[in-house]
Amino acid sequence: MLGVALSYFLHFYTLVYHIFVPCVDPEQLLVKSVDQHQYLGKWFFKAAVSRRAADISKFKMFDNIAFTMEGTADRTLVLTGYMRMGDDCIKHNWTYHIQPGRDDMVLEGRTYRRNLLWNGTWANCQDCIIFQEVEPPLKETDSEDSLNRFMLYVRQKDVDSEVVTTFLRNSACHNMKESVRLPHEKEFCI
Ligand SMILES: *[C@@H]1O[C@H](CO)[C@@H](O)[C@H](O)[C@H]1NC(C)=O
Ligand SMILES: *[C@@H]1O[C@H](CO)[C@@H](O)[C@H](O)[C@H]1NC(C)=O
Repeated sequence: MLGVALSYFLHFYTLVYHIFVPCVDPEQLLVKSVDQHQYLGKWFFKAAVSRRAADISKFKMFDNIAFTMEGTADRTLVLTGYMRMGDDCIKHNWTYHIQPGRDDMVLEGRTYRRNLLWNGTWANCQDCIIFQEVEPPLKETDSEDSLNRFMLYVRQKDVDSEVVTTFLRNSACHNMKESVRLPHEKEFCI
């Protein structure tokens, strides 16, 4: 009886907690002032969120994605993705430039896209990073960006699922209720 009462109480407490505790605001990492070396190496993609399903739907085709970040030249970073799709591995790279005076990174070939970094507070995870991609409205008359999505990257292959859950909860709190969480049923490609 006491156990049941306690579990009701805890359930109620959790509900109330989520109603009254405000959204956690993540901190933007200003690219021009961060030490880029701490972001080199391996990353594992865990989840993506957006206000619109279309912005993140393409991630649904992957079972898992691992990345490596390398510094290839002064203020140039190359991100290589190893994407698991069924039994196949797809490899692709993206080159980013860090430009003086800019707080985002510039993606080679898609300079109209803004690439912003946010710290792990969003997922309550010290060594996580949140990557935001924004593309401006297609027409001047459009009020909404044509792309706006956030992606969670973690350092450990098997990060606690609580990290992803926290990320999704805080995203929903910021009105980004569409999400894709990769199943990770197969081996990583690296
Ligand atoms: C990125 O991919 C291109 C095309 O596949 C390849 O030629 C290039 O060497 C790659 N760059 C790096 C740094 O891996
Ligand atoms: C994120 O940034 C804030 C403000 O700089 C800092 O207080 C917090 O510890 C950082 N959180 C993580 C998880 O790095």
